[in-house]
Amino acid sequence: MGYRETYQQWQDDPEAFWLDAAQAIDWIEPPRQALFDRGDDLYEWFADARLNGCYNAVDRHVENGRGAQLAIIHDSPITGSQQKITYAELQTRVAALAGALQARGVAKGDRVVIYMPMVPEALEAMLACARIGAVHSVVFGGFAANELAVRIDDCTPKAILAASCGLEPGRVVPYKPLLDAAIEQATHKPETCIILQREQQPCELTAGRDVDWQEAKTDVTPAECVPVEGNHPAYILYTSGTTGAPKGVIRHTAGHLVALHWTMKNIYDVDPGDVFWAASDVGWVVGHSYICYGPLVHGNTTVVFEGKPVGAPDAGTFWRVIEEHNVRSFFTAPTAIRAVKREDPTGEYRRKYDLSCLRALYLAGERADPDTIEWAQELLGKPVYDHWWQTETGYTIVGNPAGLEPLPVKIGSPTVAMPGYDVQILDETGQPQKPGELGAIAIKLPLPPGTLPDLWNATDRFRKSYLTTFPGYYETGDAGMMDEDGYLYIMARTDDVINVAGHRLSTGAMEEVLAGHPDVAECAVVGVSDALKGQAPVGFICLSKGVDRPHQEIIDECVARMRAQIGPVAAFKQALVVDRLPKTRSGKILRATMVKIADSESFKPPATIDDPAILDEIKAALQKIGFARG
Ligand code: COA
Ligand code: AMP
Repeated sequence: MGYRETYQQWQDDPEAFWLDAAQAIDWIEPPRQALFDRGDDLYEWFADARLNGCYNAVDRHVENGRGAQLAIIHDSPITGSQQKITYAELQTRVAALAGALQARGVAKGDRVVIYMPMVPEALEAMLACARIGAVHSVVFGGFAANELAVRIDDCTPKAILAASCGLEPGRVVPYKPLLDAAIEQATHKPETCIILQREQQPCELTAGRDVDWQEAKTDVTPAECVPVEGNHPAYILYTSGTTGAPKGVIRHTAGHLVALHWTMKNIYDVDPGDVFWAASDVGWVVGHSYICYGPLVHGNTTVVFEGKPVGAPDAGTFWRVIEEHNVRSFFTAPTAIRAVKREDPTGEYRRKYDLSCLRALYLAGERADPDTIEWAQELLGKPVYDHWWQTETGYTIVGNPAGLEPLPVKIGSPTVAMPGYDVQILDETGQPQKPGELGAIAIKLPLPPGTLPDLWNATDRFRKSYLTTFPGYYETGDAGMMDEDGYLYIMARTDDVINVAGHRLSTGAMEEVLAGHPDVAECAVVGVSDALKGQAPVGFICLSKGVDRPHQEIIDECVARMRAQIGPVAAFKQALVVDRLPKTRSGKILRATMVKIADSESFKPPATIDDPAILDEIKAALQKIGFARG
């Protein structure tokens, strides 16, 4: 069956479609019903079934003869080391860690925060939680202590699994001081921290709370897989919204395993046993779905890469890993390809490697600009597939179903809606737009299995964020259009979320940090175009009356505050002091207009603007730091 027939089959009977897909999963009690309508637009999938996530990702492969196959290849160009772990070894390691958690009182339903770099132990930590029904929440290592503290207070973990340090090219990032500061700052205190000591920078353990990773695993009874309900949360993953408080996206166990398994063949076109590589980080949704659960539940070998596309050691790293580990499908963010292109525009490094094992490159996480796609197509001589999804959905909404039927690539479009998703372009009144017309991108409810059923402890916010603007639909927060063939084009966000190097960040959260500076009376943060990172944040600061200090000093303090409070991942390096911010007469800051000025795009000031003269002041200020030159 090709794409159209499969999509039609899903449309004709969505429940039968997903019950059929569910047969790829091993159940303790198989689902008798697929969809559960909980009323008021809340839905769950496979709620009456019972299974275990870790069993499906690890144990069953050992039982089915894949014990000697590699489950994880860890490749760390930063440390110059590699580690290969078979499914049988992974089972032993995960069962021991899960036993260590149980020995410290962690049980089904308890939350466990994971704050770790790209080491195999990060996956083991996730799987150990899944093994005993604990709910993990992985926090990206590039976030500062404050962000970690916010997440600790929201999900109230019983235990934290962390490493002593992370490694960035040329820099060791000590995690332990960040962990200690976060626990100090948080109201909720975890009972135990299990710390992986890395030889690059071991840390002191806090007596009475911390325990060494290896010691914790010694002399414990390996844990068995604990059965959980299909709607038991596998994890909570925080993502940026419009305010400083991140949203805790919940992922239910059964739905995500069923859906991820479906995608491995139908989208990524890998068979069990093939090597699959997503060059992302376990702290992001790509890491959850396609470094850990997706490839493992499907019986693939997953590559855990601790490095960067360039400078670790050079722009040939990606191609070396692909050749050396026989990678069949490779997934990364466009920004990573742009980084390679900048260093190696003529593909000198690529020519050093035999990439015959590679079938295709997949891009997601941000808009894939046509230049990057065309360059990658030519460089690799392989298909380059853009696909569009979000933390909330956990896997592709719109993509190219290459394993089912490769569809023609239209550059600039992530291709077509996957089964499960009825994607619509709506105007502001909720009416469907015609092909080619711009509008908000919405998905008709119910969303398919594996997508978010709710936000952690925040059902009202869930409704307000996603369900109220267009009744009966999920609001994606993206705007775009669809052509006559059903190809989608993503144009922009409709909210204040920006995308920096494939990382989703909230300008609202950044504004809260700036507003906390004692000299700042008012501020705005916008995402301006950046040739490498897609977008970069720029802050506009109005000083309080009477502040008479050098502007650069205040700007430097703001940059340092952002790094200390949100983290280096915010990549907040540029700010301007201005007298006034452009606003509408009702006081709304004209952020979109400021972005257009910075990007030298043509624009029409909104009719409701309070004082158009301010726009000239903003332009002059931006020109001083190299923007608004057109
Ligand atoms: N722990 C600690 N610090 C981290 C970190 C981590 N896990 N990840 C990133 N940082 C730091 C970086 O060291 C950098 O610090 P600096 O300001 O001192 O240089 C800062 O956060 C910004 O990091 P990053 O956005 O990675 O920028 P970069 O300049 O180091 O690298 C790219 C640029 C394009 C090479 C890099 O962003 C990249 O590979 N992006 C791909 C993104 C991706 O995989 N996204 C996931 C969605 S698929
Ligand atoms: P995240 O939740 O971090 O995965 O970010 C999701 C957001 O990133 C989406 O809502 C889009 O704004 C953007 N995004 C992700 N993939 C794409 C893509 N292929 N094309 C355009 N934007 C994308």
